[in-house]
Amino acid sequence: MISPLSLVDKLRANGTLSRSEFACLIEGRNPQVAERLFERAQEVRHRVYGKDIFLRGLIEFTNHCKNDCLYCGIRKSNLEADRYRLSLKEILSCCEQGYELGFRTFVLQGGEDPHYTDDRMVEIVKAIKNGYPDCAITLSLGERSRESYRRLFAAGAERYLLRHETRNEAHYAKLHPANMSLRARLDCLQNLMDIGYQVGCGFMVGSPGQTTDCLVDDLLFIKEFKPHMVGIGPFIAHKDTPFANEPSGALELTVFLLGILRLIDPKLLLPATTALGTISPTGREKGVMAGANVIMPNLSPVGVRNKYLLYDNKICTGDEAAECRFCIQRRMRDIGYDIAVTRGDYAGLTGEARQAI
Ligand code: 5AD
Ligand code: FES
Repeated sequence: MISPLSLVDKLRANGTLSRSEFACLIEGRNPQVAERLFERAQEVRHRVYGKDIFLRGLIEFTNHCKNDCLYCGIRKSNLEADRYRLSLKEILSCCEQGYELGFRTFVLQGGEDPHYTDDRMVEIVKAIKNGYPDCAITLSLGERSRESYRRLFAAGAERYLLRHETRNEAHYAKLHPANMSLRARLDCLQNLMDIGYQVGCGFMVGSPGQTTDCLVDDLLFIKEFKPHMVGIGPFIAHKDTPFANEPSGALELTVFLLGILRLIDPKLLLPATTALGTISPTGREKGVMAGANVIMPNLSPVGVRNKYLLYDNKICTGDEAAECRFCIQRRMRDIGYDIAVTRGDYAGLTGEARQAI
């Protein structure tokens, strides 16, 4: 049996491990193993992206959702949620403010809200692209048809975030109602990839029922699917969901997995997520030190921020966009990193990616 410490080196050399080796690395982790992992993760990440941190301006434009995921605070059964939608004008004003602050990627995120038909979304994407041709548009709107994804790509959206949540069938069924399926989720991800999007998948760490086996399923899936981005963050309970009393995912395990992901694909775009910053005041810094290279500060209008609550105690809900932007810059400088005013594409991608359609 290889020691977890040597498994770190093996992972660095090969970019992957066997199922049992991944399990052994996760279960056998300790501070010494983590230190070695983070050293290696930083080495490869510096080789690809230097000391740059990419910013994404997150615009949470609707908290209406037709789904009922058991973990999520904006699930349709949560009658306590104060629902809102942003108008095109409000979205564009977030972009204007974001552009001035140096954001060159806008992420439009929302629940699965049928109000935003393809026609409406195409109009929004085109308006942003028209006003900010040098910016990338990322969509995070959940599951839609292949045709819908195709139209949005043609309108100018180049990236799409759709977390797979868990690659384990039984675990997926514990987290979601019966009308949702892992198959449908994976089909969407494949469609996005085929169309030519830069695709982000991801999962929560420590969600109810998650085992080491589930995590290994996630890692092997990511190795095979080759996404451009992977968003992971700790599960955090929301008081008005069926998981209200479930414990949060651990900071330590989340950053350990970030280190593993960086070694699986040195080019990966890996955010230090808001959820990581929520379970620990220095969570995002620890994420970056473990191999993350992206931060997604909130650009939503302050008036709606405390309404887009997927989990309890979310940070930054009272702060202006500019405050977050400069707070992040300060935090990154303190640990030796710089904010890059660029689109921050996946390393090595050329304009040709857009012709994949
Ligand atoms: N805790 C942490 N992350 C959550 N998400 C949804 N609910 C929670 C929660 N309670 C994550 C999901 C989703 C992303 C937008 O936010 O992974 O894909
Ligand atoms: Fe909205 Fe899950 S409750 S996507």
